[in-house]
Amino acid sequence: MKRIQTFSALVASVTLFLIFFYSAINLETTYSLREGPANLLKHPTLQVHIRDGKSQASNQGRVIILPPAVLNVSVLNGLRHTIPQNGAYWNRLLYSVFKNLDKGVNPFGHNSDWSLCRHLKNNMHDFPSYPFLFQDFLQGMNCSSPPVLLNQPNKCRSGEGKDDHQTVLLFTIKSTPRNFEQRQAVRETWGGEGVYQSGLRVRTVFLLGSSPPEDPDLSSLLAFEARQFGDLLQWDFHESLLNLTLKMNMFIQWTVKYCPEASFVFSGDDDVFVNTPTLLSYLQSLEPSKASRLYAGQVISQATPLRDPKNKYYIPLGFYDGPYPAYAGGGGFIISGALMQGLYSASSAIPFFPIDDVYAGMCLKALGVSPEHHNDFRTFDIKDQDRENLCIIKKLILIHRRSPQQIKRLWKGIHNPLLTC
Ligand SMILES: *[C@@H]1O[C@H](CO)[C@@H](O)[C@H](O)[C@H]1NC(C)=O
Ligand SMILES: *[C@@H]1O[C@H](CO)[C@@H](O)[C@H](O)[C@H]1NC(C)=O
Repeated sequence: MKRIQTFSALVASVTLFLIFFYSAINLETTYSLREGPANLLKHPTLQVHIRDGKSQASNQGRVIILPPAVLNVSVLNGLRHTIPQNGAYWNRLLYSVFKNLDKGVNPFGHNSDWSLCRHLKNNMHDFPSYPFLFQDFLQGMNCSSPPVLLNQPNKCRSGEGKDDHQTVLLFTIKSTPRNFEQRQAVRETWGGEGVYQSGLRVRTVFLLGSSPPEDPDLSSLLAFEARQFGDLLQWDFHESLLNLTLKMNMFIQWTVKYCPEASFVFSGDDDVFVNTPTLLSYLQSLEPSKASRLYAGQVISQATPLRDPKNKYYIPLGFYDGPYPAYAGGGGFIISGALMQGLYSASSAIPFFPIDDVYAGMCLKALGVSPEHHNDFRTFDIKDQDRENLCIIKKLILIHRRSPQQIKRLWKGIHNPLLTC
C-alpha cells in the first residue's frame, strides 16, 4: 500500500513538472516571436511571460504575417570563425554579407521575385567548367520564394480540444510527389498524428517539390491525398538533390509562419524509421535550458567538401573552400521550436549552399548553436546483423533507411507486448 502511495505521489509530481515544463516552453516560443531572435539569443534561458488573452484571440484569425528577419552583427560571428575568407565564390558571397552587416546594410540577399531571380548574372570565371546540375543550382541560388501548390495553413490549429494549439513535436518529412507508399507507411506508423504519452501532441507534414514536366502528372492524386490527410505541403520547384536546400528554406519559412508554437521540430526523410515514443521520452528528459536551444542528431564533424566531380555531393574548389561546420545528418534531426525564428533570419541572410544538412549546420552555427550528438540517431544505418533486432531497434531513435514494408514491420514489432528483451 505504502509503495503504491509513493508511486502515485511520484507520478503526480512528474506530471506536474511536465505540465510546467511544456507550458514554459510554449510561453518562451510566444515570447521570442514578439521580441525577435536577437533578444532570444541574448537570453537563451527560459523566461516565463504571461500570454494575454487578446493577442491569443486575434491569432486565431490565421492571417499571420511572416515576422521580419532580424539579425544583429554579433549573431553571425559563429560562422565568421568557422568559414575562411578566400577567393572561392560562396566564401566571397558570405563575406559580403558580413561586410553589409558591419555597415548596417540589410544583408537579406535572396531575391523575393521567383520569376526574376534566375535571370541574375553571376561573376564566376570557372562557371562553364561546372557540371550541368551545379550550374543550374548556381543560377537559382537567389531564388527562395517558389509558388505554393499545396498548403496546410491550419495544421497546428486544427482539433477540437482546448489544448490543441500546443504542438510538442512537429514532424516535417522530406518526400517527393511519387512517394505515396512511403508517406502512407509513415502516417500509419511513426509519423501518425495524435496525442502520445503524457498528452504530448505530435503533428506531421510532408514537404514536396514538383515533378518535372516529362513525368506523369500526379497533381490530382496529390490534391486528393492532401484533402484526405491534410498533411501535404508542396511548392512549385523541381525535385532534385541540389534543390533540397530550397526545400529546407521552405520548411523553415513554413514553420515560422504556421507552426511557431511547436516545442520541437523534426526534419528528416520519408525512408527512415523513427521510434516516436523513445524520441518523445528523450525530449521530455531535457533540461529546459537545453530544450530551448536543441539541435540534435547524428553529428558529422570535421567533414570537408568532396572534390570528385562524379560524387553526388561534389563541391568545386572554386565554389567553396573551407571545412564544413559540424552538422547533424539530414536523414533526421531535431531542432527546438524556439530556434526557428533565429534560423529563419540566418537562412534569409546566408547564401544557399547546395547540401541541405550542411546548410542547416551553417545557419545554426551562425546563431552560435552547435549540434549535439545523440548516439541513437543512426542516419547511416546499423550493423547488418542488427537490422531486424527489435531489442536493439526499440532503444534507438532513428534508423536509415527502410522500405514502407520494413517500417510497418518494425513499428508493429517494437509495440508487441510479447516482445521480451
Ligand atoms: C545573388 O545575389 C547576390 C547578392 O545580391 C549577387 O552578388 C549574386 O551575383 C547573385 N547570384 C546570382 C547567381 O545571380
Ligand atoms: C530547382 O528548381 C527550379 C525551379 O523548378 C528548377 O528550374 C531547377 O532546375 C532546379 N534545380 C536543380 C539543381 O535541379
